[in-house]
Amino acid sequence: MSVTVKESYQMPPGPADKCDLHTTEESFYRVADLLQEYGDVSCLHSAIRQSDSYLVNHPDYIKHILVNNHQNYNKGPGFERVKMLLGNGIIVSDGVFWRRQRRMIQPGFSRQIIAGMMDEVKACNRRLLERWRQKAKNNEVVDITEEMSELSLEIILRVLLAADYDRILEELGENPFAILTQDPSRDMKLVLKYRALTGIIQGIIDHRRAHPVEGEDFLSSFMAAVDKDTGEPMTDKELIDEVMTLIVAGHETSAGTLNWAWYLLAQHPAEMQELCDEVDAAGFADVPAFEQLEKLPLARQILDETLRLYPPVWLFTRKAIHDDKIGPHDIPAGTNIFITPYYLHRHPDFWQAPEAFRPERFTDEAIKARHKFVHIPFSAGPRRCIGDYFAMVEMQMHLAMVAKQISLELISPQTLALAPDVNLRSKQPFEMRLSLRP
Ligand code: HEM
Repeated sequence: MSVTVKESYQMPPGPADKCDLHTTEESFYRVADLLQEYGDVSCLHSAIRQSDSYLVNHPDYIKHILVNNHQNYNKGPGFERVKMLLGNGIIVSDGVFWRRQRRMIQPGFSRQIIAGMMDEVKACNRRLLERWRQKAKNNEVVDITEEMSELSLEIILRVLLAADYDRILEELGENPFAILTQDPSRDMKLVLKYRALTGIIQGIIDHRRAHPVEGEDFLSSFMAAVDKDTGEPMTDKELIDEVMTLIVAGHETSAGTLNWAWYLLAQHPAEMQELCDEVDAAGFADVPAFEQLEKLPLARQILDETLRLYPPVWLFTRKAIHDDKIGPHDIPAGTNIFITPYYLHRHPDFWQAPEAFRPERFTDEAIKARHKFVHIPFSAGPRRCIGDYFAMVEMQMHLAMVAKQISLELISPQTLALAPDVNLRSKQPFEMRLSLRP
């Protein structure tokens, strides 16, 4: 749909030259310049897209687009590679189909089901800690970035596929999904390799139909779900797209956040010590019970502050279906909307010393005192991340279990360089020296 701009429209300011934003390093720094020059809303004329785009960085306007008038917005551009990777899974689908899928998938993310998945999460962390304790005894250096990537991948595969994950490992002699941890770029080569794995998911679905499984992993809840209007379950193609979506969505984001969390903690010994104190005071031996996570508010604040400073999804988009308005600015139908959590989370009108790592920004009182839409690492409104609660408890469990036993010291890199792609990563992996806590 191309934009029809009427004479009477009030357009926001913006550069005269053509300008398109993508999930690239160049766009990442271009956004900073645009915000600096034009403020909270700017209009970008596209060289390659049919429509113009607005870069929006004010929480009132973001609330309007994502929540108050969300019906007027579909998912926007910028996710072409993700679409190729994920088929028509819930992250990229829209309209009636998306609503149906969300309704069918949502029950699998209930608190009760997630509590039941914590045994898998704990077991993955126990295995990690067994290895790390050995390394820590010798003060060895580990690649935290790789470790977090492998841990998060194992967790999401186990909570999705349960015993079928071990069966696949045994049958194939390796983890076919490991390509996601080995190749952080999301280029066409990876897209083709990843899509080739759909046959494995089909095999698991067929196996489950023949041998129904006990217990609840994500796949079993998706397979049991029926459309409440038609009574129909998902087709195999739909199931495959949702499974492929969850593997990617649940892996990279949590891996990235934990990687950044350890980076920040390694640089802030006082906060690291406070986390250790909190974990010690919670009164568990090695592993907190699910209910004990609530007694770890600092661990949660550290994660919220990490997600503020380094939101994995640093940019996402929408597209206006009909004309709309934010403040004095008209939004013609067809306009693309770019929202950049990275910059919103550092907006100087809403955050004091935005560059500083201060977990206390996320005490209950501090959250209440602030505009709700100035911290949106999981997005907001009906398209908010479906895995937000799972991600937070998964990451809290990891921080608590590691902080109880291990100290981490950053060895390299000495200076940070960002790699903003589909996810916001560091250019170099974080190398850290492990030691046993006294
Ligand atoms: C720190 C971890 C995570 C972050 C920062 C994150 C961030 C996001 C964001 C920003 C969106 C919405 C994008 C938009 O509005 O266009 C999203 C959507 C989504 N996320 Fe997450 N995510 C995380 C973890 C997870 C996990 C663990 C899962 C699955 C287990 C997951 C599954 C999804 C799905 C399925 C959607 C699409 C929801 C829909 O459109 O209805 N995410 N996530």
